[in-house]
Amino acid sequence: MLQVKDLHVAYGQSEALHGISFAGNENETVAIMGRNGMGKTTLFKSLMGVLPVKSGSIVVAGQEVSRDESFRRVAKGIAYVPQGRMIFPTLSVEENIQTGLEHSKTRRIPDEIYALFPVLWDMRGRKGGNLSGGQQQQLAIARALVTEPKVLLLDEPTEGIQPSIIKDIAKALNEIRKLRRITIIVSEQVLSFALEVADRLFVIEGGRLVHETTRAETDPQRIRAYLSV
Ligand SMILES: Nc1ncnc2c1ncn2[C@@H]1O[C@H](COP(=O)(O)OP(=O)(O)OP(=O)(O)O)[C@@H](O)[C@H]1O
Ligand SMILES: [Mg+2]
Repeated sequence: MLQVKDLHVAYGQSEALHGISFAGNENETVAIMGRNGMGKTTLFKSLMGVLPVKSGSIVVAGQEVSRDESFRRVAKGIAYVPQGRMIFPTLSVEENIQTGLEHSKTRRIPDEIYALFPVLWDMRGRKGGNLSGGQQQQLAIARALVTEPKVLLLDEPTEGIQPSIIKDIAKALNEIRKLRRITIIVSEQVLSFALEVADRLFVIEGGRLVHETTRAETDPQRIRAYLSV
């Protein structure tokens, strides 16, 4: 569903990703683990078209997208929950979700979304900026989901979120995958969360993928060694 081949991305003269290759299958969740500054956000932004790629290829559901603008990539089936959530603080919860429905005819929020995130139904009239961090994260996921992606990217969804809400988010991601059989790519520093959601795990270090393992074969010590400074 997602194939990334030999992706190189640079900030000016300085290359930040040095040839990233990986794939995500239908009905599969892949975690990209890595410490601060290792290239997770750069990877996600370049997959989404927020940053240009220097070279390499990104194929979503059979279509090359690496030269497309972001909105075209969304139309081709990729959606993005950025690090820090980036919801619209002055819009209501409902309006925030509707921004993901701009190109749909009805702008009606599917019941499934509120079934996944009951808290968003309870707070649908409240301003996004008045939600807790965990609730904002759920809102950002809901907004991405209404675009009906085949590939959903989440950049550090657990950052700054309390453990009970982290569990809710893991549950929701597993439910979403079960319902829609989509591909989920999630960047993380929290190994316990990654092991709850991911079928395969990669480690990114210095802009390169340096380790790959299935969930069953994961050696937690080894991943923790990569994650600690
Ligand atoms: N706008 C920018 N201009 C120049 N260099 C940048 C820019 N943004 C990020 N970098 C550099 O690119 C590298 C990868 O950063 P990136 O933000 O992708 O890391 P990350 O894995 O997402 O880290 P974190 O866990 O802190 O979010 C770092 O060396 C960083 O300093
Ligand atoms: Mg980041």
